Amino acid sequence: MEYRKLGGTDLEISAIGFGAWGIGGAPFWNNEGDAASARALRKALDLGINFFDTAPVYGFGHSETLIGKTLKPVRDKVIYATKCGLRWSQKALKGISHNAKKSSIFEEIEDSLKRMQTDYIDLYQVHWPDSKTPQEETMEALLELQRQGKIRHIGVSNYSVEQMQACLKVGRIVSLQPEYSLVNRSIEKETVPFCRENHIGIIAYSPLASGVLTGKYDKNTRFTDWRGKGIIGTFSGDGYHKIIDRVERLKELAGQAGKTCGQMAINWIVHQPGLTCALLGVKNDKQMEENVQALGWTLGSEQSAEIDRVFAREG
Ligand SMILES: NC(=O)c1ccc[n+]([C@@H]2O[C@H](COP(=O)([O-])OP(=O)(O)OC[C@H]3O[C@@H](n4cnc5c(N)ncnc54)[C@H](OP(=O)(O)O)[C@@H]3O)[C@@H](O)[C@H]2O)c1
Repeated sequence: MEYRKLGGTDLEISAIGFGAWGIGGAPFWNNEGDAASARALRKALDLGINFFDTAPVYGFGHSETLIGKTLKPVRDKVIYATKCGLRWSQKALKGISHNAKKSSIFEEIEDSLKRMQTDYIDLYQVHWPDSKTPQEETMEALLELQRQGKIRHIGVSNYSVEQMQACLKVGRIVSLQPEYSLVNRSIEKETVPFCRENHIGIIAYSPLASGVLTGKYDKNTRFTDWRGKGIIGTFSGDGYHKIIDRVERLKELAGQAGKTCGQMAINWIVHQPGLTCALLGVKNDKQMEENVQALGWTLGSEQSAEIDRVFAREG
């Protein structure tokens, strides 16, 4: 496993991180059950992954609880990243709302610490910007938690450059967690240069485009989980069909290189400038094993150029 320093901090995190959205299960994902999820977590650990990213909203506390329970014996060897800023009034998609107010964050951290069976979170990230709360208030809450020792570092997710600039006026943020993959390269133009200049590590989410870049889906696929609900990403219509055409070409290149399609996509992203870690969601230990084999080799220059051409950034 390769390890990288996160945003100039003392945290050395694995280049592949465990994305724990899927193991939270409903109402977002259908997974293979807690026993398979726990095996996937332990497999990740065995393979050298030390960075585990979750959020309260993933399974409405279930993902955090499962991580806390499974990784408790190795707590001092792993790095926990969780989030704040999304609350729910009922355990359903329609019950979720943004709230990054100080009082709400102070409540959320206590719940996360309890569920994860720990007394500190290594990286605490604002999940989505909350347009109703000034960045100053959110940052002040996070800085207070840092002073109290409940969180070690502050990060943000889904923030624009302007929103990060507003944070930096108040205090230090060490990471951004954006959507980033071969099919969504929108951060490359402004966000990546900004993060590099400001020593903000980039932790990519959905690096396999939530499964599509594994090459196992086609134009006839109808997603029955959150992917069919138009939340993030493109999983239907012309946009989706265009992505599948490109994935077909990636599959051919993977075949020539003796790799899987997903491994090609993971290998590509971990070598992008400014990228600290790619968060991979998995359903079981086999997927984890396959994904980790995406490291330790480099694409040839012709392959890289062809991938860049096929998945050229739009805009
Ligand atoms: N901050 C945010 O707003 C935000 C948003 C989204 C995600 N995230 C983070 O990023 C993590 C990863 O994102 P993600 O789960 O959307 O996407 P991803 O890593 O791009 O894709 C994960 C999905 O791909 C499939 N897959 C993975 N490895 C595979 C393999 N070897 N063979 C076959 N299928 C495989 C599995 O789903 P299927 O088998 O069902 O296809 C898996 O659930 C999340 O867990 C979370 O930690 C954060």
